[in-house]
Amino acid sequence: MMKNLLAQRANPDVTSALSGLFPTDTHPDAISFAAGSPRESLFPVKEMQRAFHDAIDQQGAHLFQYQTAQGNPELRAKLAARIGKWGQVVTTADNVVLTVGGQQAIELVAKALLDPGDEVAVEVPTYVGALAAFDLYQPTYHAVGLQADGLDLDQLEETLRQHPGIKLLYTVPDYHNPTGITMSVAKRRQLVDLANRYDFVILEDSPYRDLGYVQSPLPAIKSFDTQGRVVFVSSMSKILMPALRTGWLVADGDLLAAIMKVRFGSDLETTGVTHAAINVFMEENDLDAHVNVLKNHYREQCAAMVAALQADFPDEVDFTTPQGGFFDWVTLPAGIDTGKLLANQIIPQAHVSYVPGTNFYPNRDSHNGLRLCFTGMTPDEIAVGMKRLGDQVKAAVRETRPVF
Ligand SMILES: Cc1ncc(COP(=O)(O)O)c(C=O)c1O
Repeated sequence: MMKNLLAQRANPDVTSALSGLFPTDTHPDAISFAAGSPRESLFPVKEMQRAFHDAIDQQGAHLFQYQTAQGNPELRAKLAARIGKWGQVVTTADNVVLTVGGQQAIELVAKALLDPGDEVAVEVPTYVGALAAFDLYQPTYHAVGLQADGLDLDQLEETLRQHPGIKLLYTVPDYHNPTGITMSVAKRRQLVDLANRYDFVILEDSPYRDLGYVQSPLPAIKSFDTQGRVVFVSSMSKILMPALRTGWLVADGDLLAAIMKVRFGSDLETTGVTHAAINVFMEENDLDAHVNVLKNHYREQCAAMVAALQADFPDEVDFTTPQGGFFDWVTLPAGIDTGKLLANQIIPQAHVSYVPGTNFYPNRDSHNGLRLCFTGMTPDEIAVGMKRLGDQVKAAVRETRPVF
């Protein structure tokens, strides 16, 4: 009734990339590999409770006053030092902006850069939340494939030659959502070189970079940036708790100024009380030690999932072997639609769920991939769920085999 009054970007008839993503199954034996949530039992609740208490004790009423637009300066300084130590990015608190999750940082970059029709390159598959944010600014997408060592740079360069107007490239270089793939250091360097030559901005989205199960974090793409054209984004959601809704970005020069300009229109400033508490948490606790605890659990869960993919899935199925992060990406034979398979067969018969792959493609033109998240369950639970899923996938693959 009111639809004629709505902006095109908000048309509720066009579904968001994020809607309907997580299938519901209320069966008591249901096992979900769908939501990309960290394991709740590992949240440092007591320590965070104390940090909130101490932050309020230290600052009293002043803590609840309007604060600074970029966010708590002490926390920004700690994050600048952290990305210096683990990502070799030389920066200071002045270039860090605190945001409402990494999600808001992505949306602010889109808002600062994109007019309707502007060209954006994304790796495919890609993070659905980024597509949901970009979609609001009505861009034209160019999809670039992923290889075992990250973005296919030959394909990217070919795309840039054909579409020199591309303004923005979005990438998740570390333990990518949804595939778990990590971009090599050589490609990080080459990507910045391409951005300099073809004049585009790189949005480096890296919420999983601390969660490597085999090696230490690689230098960030931002560490190779000499022209201020890389915006680095990360988050506390995966290494602390998502409900803190605390993300952050690092940007320089004009990009930083543009991001701050659009940020004023969005929310003036973020949640200072929470940021003060996180700052105190990082003073009272060793964040790296907490991250190590997470890694010790997730490493085993990741191994359990890969072992099950090897043991319980048919040869026609491809899958990634992540070395960190939350996800594994599985590719079924072309012709199998993982969305229909899930709804019609797997949930009703086996009560296991995953996220079907279609929404991870900006043009929704690929249907045989699926994302599995391994962080929510113990290795034993993963083994049980994956056996059930593997049996269903075997049956689906059998049906696609030619009959002679
Ligand atoms: C690649 C990627 N970027 C950004 C986010 C946003 O997370 P948050 O807004 O909770 O920081 C997520 C969450 O799943 C993600 O996987």
